[in-house]
Amino acid sequence: MVNLADWEWSELRFDYYKTDCNIRYSFAPDTGWSDMQLTEDETLPVPLAAACLHYGSSLFEGLKAFRGVDGKVRIFRLEDTVQRLQASAARLCLPIPPREMIVEGCCEVVRRNLRHLPPYGTGAAMYLRPLEIGTSTSFGVKPSEEALFVVFCSPVGPYFKGGIRPIDVAIDCEQDRVAARGTGDVKIGANYAASLLPYRHARELGCASVLFLDPLEHRYLDECVAANFFAIRDGKYITPKSTTILPSITNRTLQTLAEELGIEVEVRPIPVEEIASFEECGCCGTGAIIAPIGNIVDMRNGKRYHYTDSVGSTSFALYQRLLDIQYGVAEDVHGWNTIVE
Ligand code: PLP
Ligand code: COI
Repeated sequence: MVNLADWEWSELRFDYYKTDCNIRYSFAPDTGWSDMQLTEDETLPVPLAAACLHYGSSLFEGLKAFRGVDGKVRIFRLEDTVQRLQASAARLCLPIPPREMIVEGCCEVVRRNLRHLPPYGTGAAMYLRPLEIGTSTSFGVKPSEEALFVVFCSPVGPYFKGGIRPIDVAIDCEQDRVAARGTGDVKIGANYAASLLPYRHARELGCASVLFLDPLEHRYLDECVAANFFAIRDGKYITPKSTTILPSITNRTLQTLAEELGIEVEVRPIPVEEIASFEECGCCGTGAIIAPIGNIVDMRNGKRYHYTDSVGSTSFALYQRLLDIQYGVAEDVHGWNTIVE
C-alpha cells in the first residue's frame, strides 16, 4: 500500500487499508488514562464479556488529513471532532477522553503513517478513525468503567463510488434509524447497526443510501445513513433542523461557505413534500464530501424525483470551495485546519 502511482491513489475507494501503526490509550477508574501506546497490531485485546461486544458501548469519529498544494499536512476541523466525540462518550456513559489526548492521538497517527498519506492532486485523503469502546466485563447492563480509545487511519477515496457523481437515495418508513429521543445526535455504533436493514432495502432498489424521515411523525426529512442532507432552491441552502440527526461538521462548514458565497442558509424542519420543489440536493459528510442526489425514490408511493445527471452549479461551487480550503489552495480564514507537518 505504499509507493503508489498517482493514478492508483486516485482509484482508492472509501475502504480500510492497513497502515504502519495505530495508537491506543486505555482507561481504568483507579489509574485514569494511560500514556499513548503505539502498535502495529491490527487487533484489540477485548474480554469476552466486554460491554462493547454485548451492549453497544461503542462510539467513533471520522475526520480527514490532507496533503496540501504547499506540501503541508492538514487535519480538517479537529477541534469540532473532539467536541462531538466527547458528547458521544457522555451519552454512552463512557469515560470522556480528554481533548489533549484526542488531539495527540489524531496528529501522531498521521505523523507516523505519512507514507500512506495520498499526494496532493490525487483527490484522495487520509481518513482518521478514532474509536472508543467500553471494556468492563459484566452481564448486568450498566456503564462500562473501563475503556479503550484507539485512533487508526487509512488512505481513502470518496465514500460514494465515482467522486462527485450523483447517487440515488430512497425514502423508506419501514424502519427508523434512531428513536425520537434516542441517540441520533451522537456518533455511536448502534445507530449504524439500526440503519443496515433499511440500507439493504435501498440497495435492492439500486439506491446508494436511505433518506430517513424524522422518527416521531415521519413528516420531515432527516438525514442519510452516513451523511446529512441539504437542498438548493431559489438561491438558498436548505438543510434539516432536527434533534435526531448527527450534527455534521461538513454541513456546518457548507453553511458558512454558502453564506460567504452570498447564498442564504435555512436550517429548519423540511416537510417531505418539499422534495418536489428542490433544484439541487445532496448528501454531505466527511466521507461523502458532497454527493449530489440524482434521484429520490419514495418507497411509500413509488414516486421518483429527478434532480440531476451530473452536479448542480451551487453544489459544485460549495464542493470546490471546501476542497480548496482542505488542500490549502484557499486561505483558511476560520482556522479550521490543524497543521500537522
Ligand atoms: N450523519 C451521519 C449519520 C454520519 O455518519 C455522518 C458522517 O460522519 C454525517 C452525518 C456527516 O458528519 P460529518 O460531516 O461530521 O462527517
Ligand atoms: C464519515 O463520513 O466520516 C463517517 O463517519 C461516515 C461513516 C459511517 C463512514
